[in-house]
Amino acid sequence: MDDTHQGRITKEGIRIYSEADFAGMRKAGALAARILDDVAELVVPGTTTEALDKFIEDEVEKAGATSATIGYKGYKHASCISVNHVVCHGIPGPKTLKDGDILNIDVTVIVDGWFGDTSRMFVAGKLSRKAERLVQVTHDALFKGIEAVKPGNTFGDIGHAIQAYVEAHRMSVVRDFCGHGLGRVFHAPPNVLHYGRRSTGAVLEEWMFFTIEPMVNLGRPETKVLADDWTAVTRDKSLSAQFEHSVGVTADGVEIFTLSPGNKFHPTYTV
Ligand code: MF3
Ligand code: CO
Ligand code: CO
Repeated sequence: MDDTHQGRITKEGIRIYSEADFAGMRKAGALAARILDDVAELVVPGTTTEALDKFIEDEVEKAGATSATIGYKGYKHASCISVNHVVCHGIPGPKTLKDGDILNIDVTVIVDGWFGDTSRMFVAGKLSRKAERLVQVTHDALFKGIEAVKPGNTFGDIGHAIQAYVEAHRMSVVRDFCGHGLGRVFHAPPNVLHYGRRSTGAVLEEWMFFTIEPMVNLGRPETKVLADDWTAVTRDKSLSAQFEHSVGVTADGVEIFTLSPGNKFHPTYTV
């Protein structure tokens, strides 16, 4: 593959990386994914989200890596844990999980300067029918977006694929948060919207890195941020779900940096 264009920045401010940079992203992504695999067995009724966060912080440290979130804009934890109607940026705390609670755990690690950012859904105890549908549609919506990743497609194609899928299932895509470029920084251009129109927005090129991380609500898409300045919840208190992968654009499509090594990305992996 030709990577003589490495280091270029597109007119939209998107960095074009190199083969060596892919290796860095693979390592960072693999660690974040492995930590989420390992936290899965701790997600049971009666545990607290701060206990889960403590495990994650310890794993990051044991791996000799750095948490990207501790100290980020004053955030103090190694993960965001968003339970039920929390859309994203839930702060780990002493509240205990109940049977049937669904939660997103979002981890970003830094390995050799590269950022690996991934999140997925977990369930404490038994998944309800209603939550199962939401989780499945959100998971599949992420993959609809990922399938639209290839050189020549646009970011609007990704957003459109996600939105069309979610709305066909009579659920809604959150507009207030988006995916993002990343690499040696946590958040870089572009904003990766999870809704949009085909053939609009920046054109995807080989060697770009970004996240896709759709948040889907069973009810309306509107969110609000609580007084802690972090926790985003659905305004109508409906359940919300999210899955996130960090990806790179390849000559013929996409490489997912944050694949689950144990095949545990989906919360019903055991069934
Ligand atoms: N990992 C989140 C993302 O997907 C960002 C979390 S920032 C934090 O972009 F400070 F809330 F941790
Ligand atoms: Co992200
Ligand atoms: Co994330």
